[in-house]
Formats: sequence, C-alpha cells, structure tokens
Amino acid sequence: MVSFVPDLLAGRSAFIAGGTSGINLAIAQAYAAHGAKVAVLSRKAEKVEAATAAIGHGAIGFAADVRDAEAVSAAMKAAAEANGPFDVIVSGAAGNFVAPAAALSPNGFKTVVDIDLVGTFHVFRAGYELAKKPGASFIAISAPQGSAPYFAQAHVCAAKAGIDMLVKCLAFEWGPEGVRVNSLVPGPIDGTEGMAKLAPNEAMRKIATEATALRRFGSTGDVAMLALYLASDAASYVTGAIMPADGGQMLAGNGAFSPARIFQQ
Ligand code: NAP
Ligand code: COA
Repeated sequence: MVSFVPDLLAGRSAFIAGGTSGINLAIAQAYAAHGAKVAVLSRKAEKVEAATAAIGHGAIGFAADVRDAEAVSAAMKAAAEANGPFDVIVSGAAGNFVAPAAALSPNGFKTVVDIDLVGTFHVFRAGYELAKKPGASFIAISAPQGSAPYFAQAHVCAAKAGIDMLVKCLAFEWGPEGVRVNSLVPGPIDGTEGMAKLAPNEAMRKIATEATALRRFGSTGDVAMLALYLASDAASYVTGAIMPADGGQMLAGNGAFSPARIFQQ
C-alpha cells in the first residue's frame, strides 16, 4: 500500500461493516495504514479473526449479521467504546448471485435487499448515534447496478439504487450537523468474490473489461484510495455524491447496447 500521507487519518475511529474480505478489507487496511483505529464486522467469526490479523495496527472485529439491527447496534457500541466516537463509517456488506427475475423467489429478492439496503440503514442508523458530529464521514459501497439495469441483477439493482437514494436523503438530513454521506461505486475489481460471481470465466471477464473506458479491471487498492479520500478532510465539502472508482464503467450504462461497440470489432 502506497502511503503518501501516513498521518492522514491519525487517531480517527473507523468502522467498516463487511470489512473482512475483498474491497472492504482493502479499505480497512488503507485506513489503518493511514493512522485510523479500525473496527470491522461480518457474519463469520473466523473471517473476522483473520481480517483483524491482516489489518494489524490493533484492529478489532465483531461477528454479526447486518440484517440484525440489534446485533449491529451492540457491535457498534462496543467498537465506539474501544476506539472512540466514529469519524468514519463504511457500509460495505453485500450479497450477490446471478439470477433472472423470473427465477428469483420472493426470499431470494428479499435476502439481497435486506443485506445491502436494509443492512446499510442499520449500520448508518446505529452509527449516527455514535458518530462524531460535526466531521463524521459515512460511506456506502454501492455498485454500477444502482445506476443502470443489468440482466439477472434485478435484486442487486433495486438494492444498490435504494442505497444511492438513502445516501442522498441522509446527506440532506445530516448535512446541517456537519455529517457527510456519500456512495462509493467500484467497477469490476480483480480477485474479488463479486467478480468471481459476475465474471466467472474468460468470456464474461472480456465483456466486463470492455464495459470499462480504461479497458481493465481495477484493484482493491484503486477503490481503497477513493475511500481514503472520502474519509479524509480533503473531501470536507463533498456530500450526497455517487462517486465511481470504476474505470469509466458507468459512462456506458450497462454497456450492453453501446453503439461504440461497432467500432471496437
Ligand atoms: P466480499 O469479499 O464478498 O465482501 C463482502 C463482505 O460482507 C464480507 O466481509 C462478508 O463477510 C460480509 N457480509 C456478507 N453478508 C453479510 C451480512 N449479512 N452481514 C454482515 N456481513 C456480511 O465482496 P466484494 O466483491 O469485495 O464486494 C464488496 C463490496 O463492493 C460490496 O458492497 C459489493 O456490492 C461492492 N462491489 C463490488 C464489486 C466487485 O468488483 N467485486 C463491484 C461493484 C461493487 P462474511 O461472509 O463473514 O459475512
Ligand atoms: N439463484 C437464485 N436464488 C438464489 C441463489 C441463486 N444463485 N442463491 C441464493 N438464492 C436464494 C435462495 O434460494 C433463498 O431463497 P429461498 O428461501 O426462496 O430458497 C434465498 O436466496 C436466501 O438464500 P440463503 O442461502 O439462505 O441466503 P444467505 O443469507 O445464507 O446468503 C447470499 C446470502 C445468498 C447472498 C450468499 O451468496 C452470501 O452470503 N453472499 C455474501 C458474499 C457475496 O455475495 N459477495 C459478493 C458481494 S457483491
């Protein structure tokens, strides 16, 4: 991890829901490397234990499901007692699978909306009580699915679009107290569970690559750099934004019907 400003988040308290693997773990590592006191949460105790060891710098962790509001609140209270009121709260826990809407059971649809959207409300609602005001930065991890329709992703599109609107509402409501709320939108990121599900073979990987303007997958570090910015004072006038680190994937909507493809044969 390149560290240009090692004390950027010195002494700040950061809570990362879903911070035990992939993109969110890289965010937790970047925050800790830049001086923050980090707490992470996810369902599996063994993942929590491995993540706190990987993050280092005295990181602490909690095993809880973001669908359980009381468990989230209890974990966040314990984290704030240990590390101090939150300066940064990231909501990144998510679930995804590829399924056309006609093959989705009501519970399949509900499961993803409950984890992604309702879970983000739980994390942000509990976090609001425990955040430093003014000055706190809330960051939701959204996806390009929040801004364009994707086949076999109706559940994810609905959940992430809901997150983006929740972010705008909370930015509006909490702004007067000096609290910032933003959405961070990763594009296709190498070596992640998300892309293992969405692009499980070379043909799908090629389509996902061609959907980006930069014609490449990003790294978890690429996303962590934007998360670092949004957490820091450098972003002190940024709120209610839906901000991509996506290699330009969102420029072409879902990419499937982009006429530009004619010129790329
Ligand atoms: P990942 O490694 O699977 O990360 C998901 C994290 O959430 C894990 O720590 C997981 O740990 C936790 N989690 C899942 N369900 C949970 C629940 N019900 N309660 C609490 N924690 C839960 O996924 P990723 O691919 O890095 O994605 C991270 C974020 O980036 C997600 O919000 C995703 O939508 C977004 N994103 C990813 C990509 C990509 O290219 N990968 C692109 C766009 C957006 P446990 O299993 O221990 O619960
Ligand atoms: N196609 C259609 N429906 C599916 C499905 C698939 N591939 N996978 C799960 N479902 C449905 C189940 O059938 C179930 O509905 P039912 O009760 O009507 O049968 C519902 O979704 C819940 O499944 P369950 O396995 O009980 O959910 P869970 O809470 O244990 O796990 C998931 C949640 C399904 C999202 C699981 O993939 C997960 O935990 N993911 C986290 C990691 C991840 O997805 N990372 C990428 C982030 S982008």
